[in-house]
Amino acid sequence: MAGSFDTKTKMTPPIRKAVFPIAGLGTRFLPATKASAKEMLPVVDKPLIQYAVEEAYSAGIRQMIFVTGRTKRSVEDHFDTAYELENELEVAGKHALLAVARSIAPEDMLCTYVRQPRALGLGHAVLCARELVGEEAFAVLLADDLMVGKPPVMAQMVEQFAEWRSSVLAVQDVPREHTRRYGIVSGQAVADNIVDVSAIIEKPEPAVAPTTLAVAGRYVLTHGIFKELEALPRGVGGEIQLTDGIAQLLRREKVFAFRYSGTRYDCGSKLGFLQATVDLGEQHDEVGVEFSQWLARRA
Ligand code: UTP
Repeated sequence: MAGSFDTKTKMTPPIRKAVFPIAGLGTRFLPATKASAKEMLPVVDKPLIQYAVEEAYSAGIRQMIFVTGRTKRSVEDHFDTAYELENELEVAGKHALLAVARSIAPEDMLCTYVRQPRALGLGHAVLCARELVGEEAFAVLLADDLMVGKPPVMAQMVEQFAEWRSSVLAVQDVPREHTRRYGIVSGQAVADNIVDVSAIIEKPEPAVAPTTLAVAGRYVLTHGIFKELEALPRGVGGEIQLTDGIAQLLRREKVFAFRYSGTRYDCGSKLGFLQATVDLGEQHDEVGVEFSQWLARRA
């Protein structure tokens, strides 16, 4: 995928930086998340955050910016070199495992970290990355939305950004009774799978939701979003919501919603996490066949 991305974006600056807001409290996963990061929960053998980082990498992005909070040290350790582990594996001649350990952070990938001192909302977390992002468009990936797509969903989005040169939100159709879980967009279809967004509202009740087009945890945003987030009045408890920032951005710039192709697993919820584990377990190189046979025997 990186190859086809490279040729298509030769004329246009690709998205170079991705922001991973991982400073949420993860209360839906207590007690697992009391002392450790939700994003380090593994689906089969890989932590959620690694799926998201690999997705960004395959879209040509090389600078990963993590917005971290308390309990997130393990994320930093995960993407750091583990000299002791590598040495042990080398001495033991476990070369395949050594390759796995080394592949987590390719040499051309740069990881940077910024702290969100309090969990003041997703918009506030994105705002914390402002200095590291600078004056350019950037990606945002919520690692608890595990996306499986071919090509990977962020690569699809970067391609859309290259075409429309405006912010792009990943969207999917959801059952009307689920609108209260999502940001919902409305607007005019302007191409296959692309809507020119005219409004976005956070978690509307099904009866009043203007559409059933829900925002998933992938965004490409222009740096104009920072000004909007900064200017937002603080909500209850001082929170800043990304949806509110995007609603303001819409008044100044075009924003497009893109119906991505792929499957989204809501791994911030127990049910979505279990569904991801079963589906990805069945596809796993090492254990997939045996696991599928076991599932079939139980059915
Ligand atoms: P969620 O809405 O899933 O919240 O945040 P949460 O705190 O992680 O989990 P629950 O609802 O308590 O179980 C969506 C994304 O935004 C990040 C989270 O880490 C997650 O990736 N986030 C949220 C922040 O980085 N900072 C915040 O203040 C809030």
